[in-house]
Amino acid sequence: MRVLTGIQASGKLHIGNYFGAMKPMIELQEEHELFTFIANYHSLTTSKDAATLKQYTIDAAVDYLSLGIDPNKTTFWVQSDMPEVLELYWILSKFTPMGLLERAHSYKDKVAKGITANHALFSYPVLMAADILILDTQKVPVGKDQIQHVEMTRDIAIKFNNEYGDIFTLPEHVVEENVATIPGIDGQKMSKSYGNAIDLFMDEKPLQKRCNKIVSSSTPLGEPLEYDGDHIYNLASLFLDSEQKLELQERYRRGKEGYGHFKKYLKELIWEELGEAREKRAYYLDHMDEVNDILAHGAKKARNIASLKMEKVRDAIGL
Ligand code: ADP
Ligand code: TRP
Repeated sequence: MRVLTGIQASGKLHIGNYFGAMKPMIELQEEHELFTFIANYHSLTTSKDAATLKQYTIDAAVDYLSLGIDPNKTTFWVQSDMPEVLELYWILSKFTPMGLLERAHSYKDKVAKGITANHALFSYPVLMAADILILDTQKVPVGKDQIQHVEMTRDIAIKFNNEYGDIFTLPEHVVEENVATIPGIDGQKMSKSYGNAIDLFMDEKPLQKRCNKIVSSSTPLGEPLEYDGDHIYNLASLFLDSEQKLELQERYRRGKEGYGHFKKYLKELIWEELGEAREKRAYYLDHMDEVNDILAHGAKKARNIASLKMEKVRDAIGL
């Protein structure tokens, strides 16, 4: 099964991204033919300046490799290193009715938020369709906000195939239904835009400080604590199996420890979970040439598939 995931790099990653998106995505490489790229052409639609876009791209490459993308199993590259998608994007534009794009939620949401619309923002789904179709993708794991884009991809592919024959594979979206919404330090959905995130790669002291900021009730030390609904408990349980969760519940109930103890415990859990990734990250940051080689190798592999597809497309439409 060929699976494609696109990563919009937008700065520092947090625990919510890790459990909600990265971990389940990286696990896919064990059972599927996984293709993963950093969508920097897409990020250009909202990019502020060249240095930031470059930095975010590199950061995402290093972070994903550190967290377990295995270049021997997964094809991993940067979108702009495979410019074939831009040719397909133009060709697909001809099969994309204006009304289809006008109905796109994510475009309408961005405009409603006051982002000045430009053509790249408007035609974003067509480029996404090109990413997906050029590699004969079968499955696209996405968050709920991206389902419509995969449906649009199918609409565009069907329109093309109806006119020119069965050139494109119709992709399907996959939504992980049982991925929970991870709470931030205030209990709301963790998000970098809410200022309530715990970043993935922090030094130990700042990490402890961040955990100490988690909002908890004011039960005095020495009294039993309620774990149900407690943000520290909810975050800690992400790292625990069911037996360990019961043990933690028992510690809350015993009333011998206060929230400070549990905040320390949570810090330990995060620190330990990311130990291996932290080591790999230090290694890659020190060996950026290796990161660049992995990306170059991935781009080459993806381009081989893409250029064969483009030959068929060009031939079919008479270019
Ligand atoms: P943010 O809200 O911090 O800007 P993004 O929108 O960049 O995060 O999300 C990137 C990915 O991480 C998406 O697939 C999204 O579903 C997932 N994600 C982000 N925050 C959470 C969260 N609190 N719980 C679960 N998944 C999350
Ligand atoms: N639009 C996706 C997002 O914001 C990123 C993306 C671009 C993508 N091209 C893709 C995802 C192709 C899957 C397949 O998350």
